[in-house]
Amino acid sequence: MAEDLINDGDINEGRRCFLVTATALVGAAGAVGAAIPFVGSWQPSARAKAAGAPVKVNVSKIEPGQQMVAEWRGQPVFICRRTAQTLATLDTMADRLADPESKNSDQPDYVDPKLRAIKPELLIVVGICTHLGCSPTFRPEVAAADLGADWLGGYFCPCHGSHYDLAGRVYKAQPAPLNLPVPPHSYESDDIVVLGVDQENA
Ligand code: FES
Repeated sequence: MAEDLINDGDINEGRRCFLVTATALVGAAGAVGAAIPFVGSWQPSARAKAAGAPVKVNVSKIEPGQQMVAEWRGQPVFICRRTAQTLATLDTMADRLADPESKNSDQPDYVDPKLRAIKPELLIVVGICTHLGCSPTFRPEVAAADLGADWLGGYFCPCHGSHYDLAGRVYKAQPAPLNLPVPPHSYESDDIVVLGVDQENA
């Protein structure tokens, strides 16, 4: 059964990074450039978290081009509302990606293999780099000065430089071997996502 409290998370348009160890979230400081202040009173109880309880997240405040960071099982979960322009670019990325259809990466079979989502506009991925467990930064800006003129937006891991697109798919020849995992999830309503409950069982 999902938690009663709704996780309103932490919405940001820019950069966010916090390191994650194998067992604990470390340094979950406030986001830089947060568009909407953090809303409290959403944390599941310690007992519920320890049991890996599902967590409900309200995604209604995420504007196109923004993401929020929720927490599930002690892990950051990125929830990004992609723009129509972003969705169009994802189809052009295959040659640059290590696993463009996520054949070797962790995602439920009820999400689209390329878009990696139930609803195309809402990407939901575990925000832990598949190399050594840092949390990548959200870098949606096209042609960011530090990421190159051909950067189409995505996630950048500051620890050893892995690049992911806005479907959480890792580029070729990166330290990270796999795409960011898509967690089990489902929709209770248009605005409420349940992390930890598979779509077919919702
Ligand atoms: S932990 Fe992300 S590139 Fe090494």
